[in-house]
Amino acid sequence: MRIIRNRHFWLILALFTFCSVLHYACLIGNAGTVDPGFHFGLTRHTLERILFLVPIIYSAYIFKLTGGLATSFAALLVMLPRATLISPAPADAILETVGVVLVGVLVSLWSWTLVKEKGRTEAALAQLNSAQDNLRYYLQEITRAQEEERKRIARELHDVTAQTLYALNRQVDNFVRSNTNLPTANAAFLEDLGKQIKEVLQDVQRFGQDLRPPMLDDLGLLAALRWLVSELKEQHGIKADLEVLGTERRFTPETELILFRIVQEAMRNIGRHSRATKAEATIEFGDGRTRVSITDNGVGFRLPGNLEDLSRAGKLGLIGMQERMRLLDGSVRIESKPGKGTTVMAEIPI
Ligand SMILES: Nc1ncnc2c1ncn2[C@@H]1O[C@H](COP(=O)(O)OP(=O)(O)OP(=O)(O)O)[C@@H](O)[C@H]1O
Ligand SMILES: [Mg+2]
Repeated sequence: MRIIRNRHFWLILALFTFCSVLHYACLIGNAGTVDPGFHFGLTRHTLERILFLVPIIYSAYIFKLTGGLATSFAALLVMLPRATLISPAPADAILETVGVVLVGVLVSLWSWTLVKEKGRTEAALAQLNSAQDNLRYYLQEITRAQEEERKRIARELHDVTAQTLYALNRQVDNFVRSNTNLPTANAAFLEDLGKQIKEVLQDVQRFGQDLRPPMLDDLGLLAALRWLVSELKEQHGIKADLEVLGTERRFTPETELILFRIVQEAMRNIGRHSRATKAEATIEFGDGRTRVSITDNGVGFRLPGNLEDLSRAGKLGLIGMQERMRLLDGSVRIESKPGKGTTVMAEIPI
């Protein structure tokens, strides 16, 4: 019997016994007399009956419906003989007894609905957690698939498209060099063609690197971040620096890729939206946490109350950062005000 080992059970029993003894105390030594006095506007016996609500409510709180009903029934059994056989006004006494028991039953039923409600909330919460886990898994798989696809396209661009363009450019070059007697207009045309092929080749190489910089796999996160910083300078003329705090640590390829994507999106936003003249990326290798922040001195913007509002407008960069960070149990914070620049801070617990 587990209930016997429950201290609440013994406390309720003690309270109940105390109420019962008090209820029949007038019979001891002074048999049959009733204290006619009023206390707080109620007779002493009315107060004694109301007192039974203490163990009843306590029991309903601890042992819920069964406890509340059992204690109410026990109280009825204790109070009924006094009300019917001893009380000078049995009708009133029975009414009060029934009233007290009724309140006890209602409290017990209320505790039952609370238990049911709690069960429903817990079930809904468990369902929500499981849905969130599924969503997280799904997101992880999509991100992985997207990165695989990017890697494949980048490799294809590097191994096939770029090589073909390179060979084409060499052929044009060789043709011009070995045909010195070409009419000037034709030679100029071929030289221009060669220049255009070179430009397309550079674009293809840049696009491939942007999709998946090979240095991320070969040389690691810091090298890839340095490349991002140099790209911002080269493509947008924004003075940019990378600061490294703490001792560099290597993470799993997935983690490094996610951190890289965060900085890449922040840099892209600086290039596209900020009109900044200066930007700085900082990576801090701390004890049990790594923080990356990217800040610019540009025009800034008014942050919406909820980042999800941006995704409804087809702006997926910032919300994408948040989702990627969730995959690492990390967090991202964006601070921006019109005219005050923008800072993106991401932190992961490793
Ligand atoms: N560094 C910044 N400076 C100024 N405004 C910014 C900066 N970063 C973001 N913003 C503002 O926040 C908006 C949302 O950025 P987000 O990266 O989510 O979307 P986007 O860059 O417009 O589109 P996408 O990234 O999906 O191609 C931007 O449209 C821009 O108005
Ligand atoms: Mg963006």
